[in-house]
Amino acid sequence: MRRILSIAARAFWAMLPAYVPNNAAVLVGGGRPIDGGRTWRSKRLLGDGKTWRGTLVGTAAGLALALLLNRLEAWIAATTDRSVPRFGRSALTLPFGAMCGDMAASFYKRRSGRDRGAPVPGLDQLDFVLGALSLTAILSPTWFRRVFRLPVVLAVLVLTPLLHIGTNLLAYLFGLKSEPY
Ligand code: CTP
Ligand code: MG
Repeated sequence: MRRILSIAARAFWAMLPAYVPNNAAVLVGGGRPIDGGRTWRSKRLLGDGKTWRGTLVGTAAGLALALLLNRLEAWIAATTDRSVPRFGRSALTLPFGAMCGDMAASFYKRRSGRDRGAPVPGLDQLDFVLGALSLTAILSPTWFRRVFRLPVVLAVLVLTPLLHIGTNLLAYLFGLKSEPY
């Protein structure tokens, strides 16, 4: 049990910089869409839901959180016998990869004829995880192999959809969202 909790905690910590960007983008989103209104085969390339401001601020928010967690890491290492991962280049690849995964999903959604905001269960919960993990594996392979061992990756795949459902439900109960999913 202790071991499972410790793996879940490591997974949560390592993924926090990838969890924040989408939520930050929802709060500040708006303005010029990245695709500039362009279409491909008479459908929008990405749609109005993917904006420059949302992407930049979302990535910056994830980066800022990673740097904050690094400060906490120093404190945890100095005062306890526990260890948490320290972010390096991953401080940027996790949030930016998350935004790219989310964009790739929008590209796919537009190709399959879905309008902006149409829910795609499964994809909506994991697109940003796949983006964050892939970009980090490519640009920060040593860090990736050290932190994302198989049990941690499995914990991420189980925890993320649960967290996603939980936070959406909270946002609905607090009146920030019109649907509970
Ligand atoms: N957002 C943004 N830029 C991004 C991602 C999100 O500005 N790169 C903002 C937009 O205001 C968007 C909101 O966050 O409407 C919710 O994000 P998301 O659910 O990913 O977009 P949807 O509007 O649902 O569009 P899509 O169908 O393309 O996912
Ligand atoms: Mg959406």
